[in-house]
Formats: sequence, structure tokens, C-alpha cells
Amino acid sequence: MISQEQIRSQLNNCLLEAKFDRWANQYQKGKVRDIYLLEDKRILITTDRQSAFDHVLGAIPLKGQVLNKTAKYWFDQTADIVPNQVLDVPDPNVTVARELDMLPVEIVVRRYLTGSTDTSVWTNYNNGVRKFCGVDLPDGMIKNQKFDEAIITPTTKAEDHDESISPQEIVERGLVDADRWAEVEKVALKLFARGTELAAQRGLILVDTKYEMGLDPEGNLTVADEIHTPDSSRYWILNTYEDRHARGEEPESLDKEFLRLWLVDKGISDDNIPELDDEIRTQVSARYIDLFERVTGEPFETEVDDTPILERIEKNIEPYF
Ligand SMILES: Nc1ncnc2c1ncn2[C@@H]1O[C@H](COP(=O)(O)OP(=O)(O)O)[C@@H](O)[C@H]1O
Ligand SMILES: [Mg+2]
Repeated sequence: MISQEQIRSQLNNCLLEAKFDRWANQYQKGKVRDIYLLEDKRILITTDRQSAFDHVLGAIPLKGQVLNKTAKYWFDQTADIVPNQVLDVPDPNVTVARELDMLPVEIVVRRYLTGSTDTSVWTNYNNGVRKFCGVDLPDGMIKNQKFDEAIITPTTKAEDHDESISPQEIVERGLVDADRWAEVEKVALKLFARGTELAAQRGLILVDTKYEMGLDPEGNLTVADEIHTPDSSRYWILNTYEDRHARGEEPESLDKEFLRLWLVDKGISDDNIPELDDEIRTQVSARYIDLFERVTGEPFETEVDDTPILERIEKNIEPYF
């Protein structure tokens, strides 16, 4: 395990942006990833940007590495189920991916009645919704309760936010055709089952997750972006779930709950966006690293040195241009 000193040594060597002037015409910026478009590939650089409430609050040391390495772990663990985007990981922060023709929907899979955003199932259920994304939800369920089986609640990217949509509407609007959608659901449930099984071996519950998929030039369904990372998934601790749930307590979560509580404590609102101080940045980093180690069962190994992160990345991606 990496020490707090080592994390602190990276507080001034974080990756907020990876824009290089020499490749500016191939550059794109996502929420978390900076991207370079090549002919049939894309270089996905996972940054250390931490956002909440639609604002970038600052950078968390080593967060980009944790996300990129966690995604790589899961792509490897699921490669027998479905092809994935990964061509190469030439740097701890970088994945070189096959360029895919992306499906215009995100595939959200959920095993528990939880969440807090507008598109989350608990928010909707709590407001009286009993048919969500085409799924019938029984009356009388309580927050954080387990569904009988995993459900799929897709979203589409509307202007600047996600919108819930049913499979029927996906097909009717011509976003994905019926046969392809059936394949997407089958693959998503298999991926989620694998995630659940491996997480359980590590004492964790994979609560819910979001997949992005696309088609390769031959028309093969392929998993893209990231899978089962702390940014795209929710994890709870397995052995305390039952008791806490029975007592009406929230599950112990491995995700961004810690940071969320800190932000609430600082009184975050639309006109008060607190800046992350070094202490919280270090603590959040330690939690991301802990999550990586618990999920993968592997130590988080990285060279923590003084090489400026941008310099290292530029050198490692240069051969692709
Ligand atoms: N293999 C791929 N082919 C094409 N597009 C991809 C691939 N993998 C990811 N993307 C897209 O690249 C972007 C990744 O940036 P990210 O910061 O994750 O985006 P977002 O802001 O949508 O979360 C997203 O728009 C994602 O849909
Ligand atoms: Mg993304």
C-alpha cells in the first residue's frame, strides 16, 4: 500500500488537463477523460479531475491511475464475455482504445433500490413511480433493498444531462434496433453477473453500474469507456449490509460518500463551491487506492516520483501519432 507521504508528494503533480499544443487539432475534452482522436483509435487519458454538483472541484492525486487501472482489470476479467475497446495501456493514466461507433444510450444495471440523482431508481420510486424505464417495480419496497433480479434502466444523453428511457422507446426512436438491443441486454447482464461474482469473492457488493457500448468496424458489439470503476459503479461492503439494512442504516459504501459528506459539511450549493484542501485531497486519494486494492485484490503499484505527469504522458503517447 502506498503511504500517505507518497500521496502527499503528488499533491502538486496531478493531472487536471492533458492538452498538448502539438496535437491540439485531435484533442477533445470529456468530463473525466482527455481524448486524442487517431484514425481508427482514440487515446483516452484519465485525468485526476474530481467533480461534484457539475463542477470540477480540483484534482485528486493518483485518481486517474486508479480509474484507468480498475477499468483495465475489469476489461481483462470480462474479455471472455464480450470484446472490449482496449488495445494498449502505455501509461498508468492512458488507454489506447479501438474507435467505436457508440450506441447513443448508456446501459445502467441495478441490483438494489438506491441512488440520489434524478435518474436514479430510488428517487423515482420514492416519488411514487412504479414503472421505471419499462421495469415494473413492486409496492412496499424500502431504500437500499435488493431487487429479485438485476434490472436495466437505460439513459440517453440529452443536452447536458442524462434522461431515463425504456427499451421500447429506444427501439421506437430508432436509437438501437430490436435485435441489437436484445444482445446489449444479454451482454450487460452477463458483465454485471461477473462483476457481482468477483466482487463477492472480495467481500463487496456491486450495487449498480453503467456501461457504454459501441460497434467495431465489423459490427461487433464492444464495451467501451470504463467498466466497474468507482466513477461508473457503486460498491458496498458485503458483510455489514444485512445488519445495517435491517437496522434501517445506510450501507457502508466504498464510493464517493466520504467526499459528499465533507462537501455537505462545507455547505456546498450552486453559489458556494468549496475548494478541496490538501487534507481532503489526500484522504480521498487514499480511499480511491483502497478501493482499487479491495476490488482487484492486487496492491496498487505505481512509480511515485518527481517526473512531471504531463511529461511522462506525452512521452508515452507520442508513438501513436
Ligand atoms: N472506444 C470508444 N470509442 C468511441 N468513443 C468512446 C470510446 N470510449 C469512450 N468514448 C467516449 O469518449 C468520451 C470519454 O470521456 P469521459 O470523460 O469518460 O466522458 P463523459 O463526459 O461522457 O463521461 C465519452 O464521450 C465516451 O462516450
Ligand atoms: Mg465516461
